[in-house]
Amino acid sequence: MANLPENRGVQPHAIVPEGVHLLRAGPSCHLDHSDNGYNMQPLDNTRIAVIGLGYVGLPLAVEFGKKYDVVGFDIRETRIHELRSGTDGTLEVSPDELSAASRLSYASELDALRNCTVFIVTVPTPIDSAKRPDLTPLVKASTSLGKVLKRGDVVVYESTVYPGCTEEVCVPLLERESGLKFNVDFFVGYSPERINPGDKKHRVTTIRKVTSGSTPEIAEFVDRLYGSIIVAGTHKASSLKVAEAAKVIENAQRDLNIALINDLAMLFNKLGIDTLEVLEAAGTKWNFLPFRPGLVGGHCISVDPYYLTHKAQQVGHHPDVILAGRRTNDGMGPYIANEVMRLMVRKGINPVGARILILGLAFKENCRTCAIRGWSTSSRRCATTMPRSMCTTRGWMLPRRTTST
Ligand SMILES: NC(=O)c1ccc[n+]([C@@H]2O[C@H](COP(=O)([O-])OP(=O)(O)OC[C@H]3O[C@@H](n4cnc5c(N)ncnc54)[C@H](O)[C@@H]3O)[C@@H](O)[C@H]2O)c1
Repeated sequence: MANLPENRGVQPHAIVPEGVHLLRAGPSCHLDHSDNGYNMQPLDNTRIAVIGLGYVGLPLAVEFGKKYDVVGFDIRETRIHELRSGTDGTLEVSPDELSAASRLSYASELDALRNCTVFIVTVPTPIDSAKRPDLTPLVKASTSLGKVLKRGDVVVYESTVYPGCTEEVCVPLLERESGLKFNVDFFVGYSPERINPGDKKHRVTTIRKVTSGSTPEIAEFVDRLYGSIIVAGTHKASSLKVAEAAKVIENAQRDLNIALINDLAMLFNKLGIDTLEVLEAAGTKWNFLPFRPGLVGGHCISVDPYYLTHKAQQVGHHPDVILAGRRTNDGMGPYIANEVMRLMVRKGINPVGARILILGLAFKENCRTCAIRGWSTSSRRCATTMPRSMCTTRGWMLPRRTTST
């Protein structure tokens, strides 16, 4: 909300988003004073832009688009055309759900964002070939947003990053491009996403959401904005860094738990013990966690731990445990390929010239894609380990599905 009339009389630092009115004002302030320093106004006039309409961005834009004016923005024009025609190729949102978002429009031109007051960034955060964070999409999105940012606007990041990334990488770009000052002219929030592609039970609105803001007032505003669509409720973290760290450790923890079971599965294989029978027996204890062995792929679990280990190494901490888990899980593709070849040879099947049927090839249940970050890392490895005959152009034989968020 840039320069709204109600803000006249409020001190210059008090440029706040629509819905948040600072009341700690000078003597000429015509607003009520209050102990907590601000007073929440209705959110109704908030105009939202969602930047990046993939697995995370589209379902979010749809939910907000039922209640607020929303522009869904993506640099891929084909994606915009597809959504305008009423279909979602990721299958996350049905045509009926798309049309229920009556206040959602789509755009690939930056100009369409000029009237928005809240910008939610949901662009990819992959890793490069050296497994370092590749912040290119985040940098490009922040640079673009800086060109349309106005006084009073709020930018909320949802992309998974390492603790500190929003303030260290994104905010300076927003400041540089807009010429505006952080926490004076514009504000930032961080609210990580926990959706699980293909999962029709855990949806955007039914998963509790962590929120945060660059000032206490903005944290409250961001929390209230998400709280207006998330029926499962929100958890307001004390800072952007806490919210960033919370997201990345959720996936690092899952990765490590699976790595332990993968390690055990390889050991039990050597010992001639059935892993699932062992897990079933151990699972009768009340606090034994029910993880299963398998490939770790997907957009998140095979990638996010590297964001954390990158930051850890930057500050001189060597994250031995996290990296060990990554090594184990990244090695499962070649391990399984070798095991398959060993079994084929034992059964007298020559892998050279063998024809293989792959059933249910996807990075996880009910998902259309397989060539995404975590998967492609494993598949490339696997493809180099297995004879050509065992690899198709679209994948390779899997003994069980990959594990993802
Ligand atoms: N997919 C998941 O299960 C999941 C779950 C939780 C969190 N996340 C995180 O959410 C973020 C987004 O993931 P996703 O799975 O939705 O990615 P995605 O690849 O499905 O979609 C990202 C979209 O952003 C668009 N994009 C890229 N650069 C852009 C730019 N500069 N401006 C505008 N649009 C741009 C792409 O065209 C694409 O449509 C990532 O940080 C990811 O780690 C993903």
